[in-house]
Amino acid sequence: MTTDWTDRTVLVTGAEGFIGSTLVDLLRERGARVRAFVHYKPYGDKGNLAHRMDDVELIAGDVRDPGRVMDAVAGCDTVFHLAALIGIPYSYDSPGAYVQTNVTGTENVAEACRRHAVRRLVHTSTSEVYGTARTVPIGEDHPLQPQSPYSASKIGADMMALSHWHAFELPVTVVRPFNTYGPRQSARAVIPTILAQLHAGARQIKLGSLTPTRDFTYVTDTARGFLALAECDRALGEVVNLGTGREIAVGELARKLIEASGRDGVEVVVDPARLRPSGSEVERLLSDNGRAREWAGWRPEVPLEEGLKRTSEWIADHPHLFAAGRYQV
Ligand SMILES: NC(=O)c1ccc[n+]([C@@H]2O[C@H](COP(=O)([O-])OP(=O)(O)OC[C@H]3O[C@@H](n4cnc5c(N)ncnc54)[C@H](O)[C@@H]3O)[C@@H](O)[C@H]2O)c1
Repeated sequence: MTTDWTDRTVLVTGAEGFIGSTLVDLLRERGARVRAFVHYKPYGDKGNLAHRMDDVELIAGDVRDPGRVMDAVAGCDTVFHLAALIGIPYSYDSPGAYVQTNVTGTENVAEACRRHAVRRLVHTSTSEVYGTARTVPIGEDHPLQPQSPYSASKIGADMMALSHWHAFELPVTVVRPFNTYGPRQSARAVIPTILAQLHAGARQIKLGSLTPTRDFTYVTDTARGFLALAECDRALGEVVNLGTGREIAVGELARKLIEASGRDGVEVVVDPARLRPSGSEVERLLSDNGRAREWAGWRPEVPLEEGLKRTSEWIADHPHLFAAGRYQV
């Protein structure tokens, strides 16, 4: 389903991030007026939005600041809330920052949406909230298991968003993407980590645990899912997974990328510094995407092999963004 977004005012938080900037591109293609909420940084805050400076309204701020968020939401039809701290290793070091940004930040966004009576708030969750799958594929009713402070903070954020539906009838949908990958993703994620090392000519690809499986969705598919769910009345007050329904182990993914690179003799090694504490490692994530398919007509369109090829080309074109081999928390 392709909806006309022409002349609607849409706020995207985390707009300069990996998924947020891709969503901004799609919204602009569909004609929306985009207000981009980016994290204020004294040395520049454009991130992945540098190419959009002339056709979005940029608001630099911090989701922890309720007043700034209130102003940003005023006059918006739809709010896509993606701003968050997302790295799992950094959440071991600084859990309080995750509570403030992810839980309090979401409360600020939901409250502003209520005050300004927006048509729809789309809040972004993550498959990390499920923890290691107890049953597969993982449906939205799977238990929530906070295996990292990041996961715990996103569970808190999801509940805060949903509480505004139950208590105040705020039209909220919680979108729960499984691992998303593609151009613009930061170096800490597993696919850029592997590709950056490969492109730098490493003979050994250093990774954390090789056995966990993940369900990877290409970023433009994830962004289309956000738009489809923003229009889906069945998804009001509900959580909806976005995933492909296909899983691959990290070690197998690395071997696939090495093979595609055509380089011989490259080995994959476990770097102890990259291992998560054993109780924190999420061993298996595989989505049931039935709700997104049936309720919103969403289908992932980019096969893993094609998405990896596009991501590899993008990383090859942006070597300066990746300090190959150095572990980035
Ligand atoms: N990448 C994935 O695989 C994945 C999977 C599931 C869910 N998600 C969720 O998708 C959303 C976007 O993630 P991403 O992968 O694009 O990560 P990202 O780090 O590229 O984007 C997050 C954005 O939030 C902004 N931000 C952080 N703290 C802020 C603050 N205090 N105030 C304002 N902005 C702040 C950052 O500047 C960044 O632009 C997050 O909510 C994340 O939890 C991501």
